[in-house]
Amino acid sequence: MSYYDIQKLDDPADKTTLEKKHVPHIVAPDTVEAGELFEVTVKMGNEIDHPMEEGHFIQYLELYADYYQIARVDFTPETQACATLMIKLEESCTLRAFEFCNLHGQWEAAKEITVE
Ligand SMILES: [Fe+2]
Repeated sequence: MSYYDIQKLDDPADKTTLEKKHVPHIVAPDTVEAGELFEVTVKMGNEIDHPMEEGHFIQYLELYADYYQIARVDFTPETQACATLMIKLEESCTLRAFEFCNLHGQWEAAKEITVE
């Protein structure tokens, strides 16, 4: 893997400790109404809370609808690496969450959202 790669969950049945701490956990409805606000919560990580201390913390979270950026949240060690956002979508898409750990790089999770 290169320095610039985005890391994802390899095998959901066999997560490494790094994956448990870094792969974003997306909580959002499977189906939403077009143009209607709904809640999305993204938490890092998915099984183990990522440390938030000086020297090792999640710097930011970005949320994309396919490849269109819809939100960005910057974190400091004084926060928990978790964000709840109200968003709306016009079309079905893949909701992608990217997070950046200052020590362990970029991680991605995705969830399909159907817009009716
Ligand atoms: Fe990390």
